[in-house]
Amino acid sequence: MSTPSSTTMSNIYSEPIGILGAGVAGIINTYVFLQDGFTNVTVITRDRSVGGIWSRDRVYPGLRINNVHGEYRFSPLDMPPPDDSVETGGHITGMGMCDYIETFYEKFLQGKAKFIFETEVLNVRRDETKGWEVKVEGVCSKEPRVLTFSRIILATGGCSNPNIPANLSTEAAQNAQFKGLVIHSSQFRSRLDDIFELVKQKMSDDDKTKGTVVVVGGGKSAMDICAKLANEGRRVVNVFETADVFLAAKSALPDFIRKGRLLSLLSPHIVLRTRLERFFHTTTLGSWITKTFWKFLEASSFDAFSLPKDSPLRNTPSIFWGIRTNDEGRVNSKNYYCLVNGGQIELAAPARALRYSDDGKSLRLSNGQEVAADVVILATGWKSSWTQIFDGTLPLLIWISSSTIGTTRRSRTLLPPTPRTRRDFAIAGAIFTSNNGYTSEVAAHWISSYFQGDPMRLPSSPEEAVAEVELRSAWMRKRYPDMCSWVNESYSCTLDFWTWPQAADELLEDMFLPSMRSGGNLFTWPFQVIDLKEIATLGEERRVLREKATAS
Ligand SMILES: Cc1cc2nc3c(=O)[nH]c(=O)nc-3n(C[C@H](O)[C@H](O)[C@H](O)COP(=O)(O)OP(=O)(O)OC[C@H]3O[C@@H](n4cnc5c(N)ncnc54)[C@H](O)[C@@H]3O)c2cc1C
Ligand SMILES: *[C@@H]1O[C@H](CO)[C@@H](O)[C@H](O)[C@H]1NC(C)=O
Ligand SMILES: *[C@@H]1O[C@H](CO)[C@@H](O)[C@H](O)[C@H]1NC(C)=O
Ligand SMILES: *[C@@H]1O[C@H](CO)[C@@H](O)[C@H](O)[C@H]1NC(C)=O
Repeated sequence: MSTPSSTTMSNIYSEPIGILGAGVAGIINTYVFLQDGFTNVTVITRDRSVGGIWSRDRVYPGLRINNVHGEYRFSPLDMPPPDDSVETGGHITGMGMCDYIETFYEKFLQGKAKFIFETEVLNVRRDETKGWEVKVEGVCSKEPRVLTFSRIILATGGCSNPNIPANLSTEAAQNAQFKGLVIHSSQFRSRLDDIFELVKQKMSDDDKTKGTVVVVGGGKSAMDICAKLANEGRRVVNVFETADVFLAAKSALPDFIRKGRLLSLLSPHIVLRTRLERFFHTTTLGSWITKTFWKFLEASSFDAFSLPKDSPLRNTPSIFWGIRTNDEGRVNSKNYYCLVNGGQIELAAPARALRYSDDGKSLRLSNGQEVAADVVILATGWKSSWTQIFDGTLPLLIWISSSTIGTTRRSRTLLPPTPRTRRDFAIAGAIFTSNNGYTSEVAAHWISSYFQGDPMRLPSSPEEAVAEVELRSAWMRKRYPDMCSWVNESYSCTLDFWTWPQAADELLEDMFLPSMRSGGNLFTWPFQVIDLKEIATLGEERRVLREKATAS
């Protein structure tokens, strides 16, 4: 592969760079590009503020994320510990995450990059002479315009658009003359006052006169919403077929397990690079230990909440074969599972919500039950924002490859007719991991290096890139056999849930930088706590390599 010519390189820092999306991925890319010396960076978001999933209009008191303190952050800025750290085992709150990203923005980005808020990206296309044309529209003004960039980073989110089954949509509700309020979980924060107005606080535990909120879904969003409503004294019924699998313990897991490499080593990765990983995943004894470990973790989590043996909440994918696991942390009384045990959250499960009933007041379930609802909250999941923006111009194939590497490599080869030397497109936020702070920051460096033509380990031809992506995709299908039905472009080529340290290491090695930075000796390395500080100097390390390459 040839590198961009030196004439392009001398101007690259003043070229207009477009970053689409201001969530975690967009924010850290903006930071890295500014640090690297880019002077014309524009960030576009449809929201009123930064943060994406964790933006001010989305988070609510009581929302807790899966990550513990110290995990989900960026290296340049510390995060204060949550107030109730001891009670929850250090779990970061949604509000805490939002405050953190806003502080990060004010401290490092505001006034340095150009932020365009409340502006929807409708479409993106590449013009051979003008570069990337981004068609946008004001969310309120509805005024369309076209912005032009020489390179763009798509950071609009792999799960930022609501996924709503047709039978349960607001249109379906209208057709059935359903009288209640119907919203998707993404609107929960903004419609909270309306919900509290329609469904008042119960006078006693079995008071059914104040109305009911029905929450459809068995994932984390559904559970968080149920817990919030129950803790506010509202009657809640939760409908689901299968629930998410989770981790929980009576006392918080120690850092050397929770934030070390052990869990990642016990989860196979496409490349088993250490002897310990090969032992766990290729030998009889190792596989037995691995299976027993995950089974134990699953059982002890169910037991931590004393879930009855016949509870529908045990109807989950296994931790090992599933593609995500919620971390409930330390058992505490305000938690969803405790509220279910205590009867403050009612379950209608296992059952699927089929449609709105003819009485205009309830939902009909697959088990024949009708549940009355004044408010229906559809926590029915998410889909990526990518496909609709590309509108067919980045065909099908983009979803085959969702790692940053995969997508960047793949799409570069697919965008017709892109000269191979032109490194002008990347997707950020496409590596799904359980430590998005660390991986997003490393991926942002990867993208910046890629754009700058730094020395990197990359496939040598488009054909090689395609072959690599297809291999990964085939591996994914084997690794997560039961999940195919709902694996789509959001989680497709690489999903590095437990194995995020290996994914980050691969990106570091692509940049010829040291990997496995948490250190330790022959015996301690799996238990070393992985700290964001270990990637604080990536920009500097990359600059040194770049200068060396230019000098030689
Ligand atoms: C409910 C929920 C809970 C989650 N919980 C966790 C968790 O506990 N731990 C964890 O690690 N991960 C969690 N995740 C995964 C989460 O998606 C990532 O952690 C991360 O926040 C994604 O960041 P992002 O920047 O890629 O996307 P987002 O945060 O979705 O940001 C997308 C950005 O793009 C903008 N945008 C999108 N489409 C357009 C458009 N057409 N035009 C203009 N702007 C657009 C949005 O306005 C936003 O600024 C959760 C996801 C969801 C949906
Ligand atoms: C940034 O790029 C845009 C588009 O080319 C251009 O109009 C604008 O003047 C540039 N801004 C700066 C500060 O160079
Ligand atoms: C949608 O509703 C129809 C009519 O009740 C039902 O037969 C069908 O199974 C429902 N579809 C889903 C996906 O639930
Ligand atoms: C993504 O997965 C969900 C869940 O199965 C599905 O309903 C949705 O249609 C998928 N999205 C796309 C774009 O395929």
